[in-house]
Amino acid sequence: MLAVKKAVIPAAGLGTRQYPASACVKKAFFPLVDRDGRSKPVLQIVIEEALAGGVAEVCIVGLPAMEESCRRYFRAMPDELRPAFEGKEWAFQQAETLRRIGERLSFVAQTEQRGLGHAVWCARRWIGGEPFLVLLGDHVFLSGCKRPCSAQLIEAFSGHSITALTPVGEEQLPGFGVVRGRPSAENAALVHAEGFIEKPPVEVARARCRVEGVPEGIYLAHFGMHLFTPGMLEVLDEMVRSDRRERGEFQLTAAQDILCRREPYFGLVIEGERYDMGTPEGMLEAQAALLKNRDSHLFSSS
Ligand code: UTP
Repeated sequence: MLAVKKAVIPAAGLGTRQYPASACVKKAFFPLVDRDGRSKPVLQIVIEEALAGGVAEVCIVGLPAMEESCRRYFRAMPDELRPAFEGKEWAFQQAETLRRIGERLSFVAQTEQRGLGHAVWCARRWIGGEPFLVLLGDHVFLSGCKRPCSAQLIEAFSGHSITALTPVGEEQLPGFGVVRGRPSAENAALVHAEGFIEKPPVEVARARCRVEGVPEGIYLAHFGMHLFTPGMLEVLDEMVRSDRRERGEFQLTAAQDILCRREPYFGLVIEGERYDMGTPEGMLEAQAALLKNRDSHLFSSS
């Protein structure tokens, strides 16, 4: 397994689909009750997923005020709060976890919401010349096995970019980016990516996005997690310099589509589920899934 030390978490989206709650609390701080029964902001659950995968450092791409909010949250128990928690050992343990997470965090501001591709591009100097994991800051990832979803992706990394995938039906296509590709001969869960299409119409998906061995009417879509080589930053840089946008934004899916034509690029079907907190329904589903998985597969982030 090759070392992957860095993870980027884009969390600068405005969360318009979660209005009016998002006008009061940033989407990344929406609370959920995690598998250990503790209330946490979704961003913490995402960071813990990245750390459980083995990365050492995490960069949050957020709105300019986010660094201060995060620094105030991911820290040791402040002295003035300690009396309120006297005798509540669990709270001090939680605060210790927050402090340890805080030590591993860096921040980059995205001052204008110019899309997911742009958010990743904003972290380019922090990333440097290393491979890096990307996890969407408003997704909950629940593994279906003993290894976290992030660890499954990192274990499959062979020096080439690899995107986490999950099967979706035709009715779900309007919400997802989908891979075009062919299955790997060695690993049934691995796909050689030949293209990525964002929200393909059904006819386009039927004609171009079928992957051999995957049942008819099922496509392999983005899971919300990627592991990129620095080649991705070159593609994003070219897109930003030439102002190559789609629907007004620098789309990560468009950059993936370019990258997989330049370098070997894989997709990995993850054993697990992901829940998108971007919508009220997704948030309810995420909470229900966490509840159902109570006490199971909670990975230590220490
Ligand atoms: P989404 O497009 O789902 O989030 O981005 P959004 O922009 O908050 O959604 P709306 O306003 O409800 O349509 C997926 C992830 O990418 C981040 C978001 O914070 C979310 O974690 N993102 C998106 C950025 O960091 N920057 C952007 O410009 C866009």
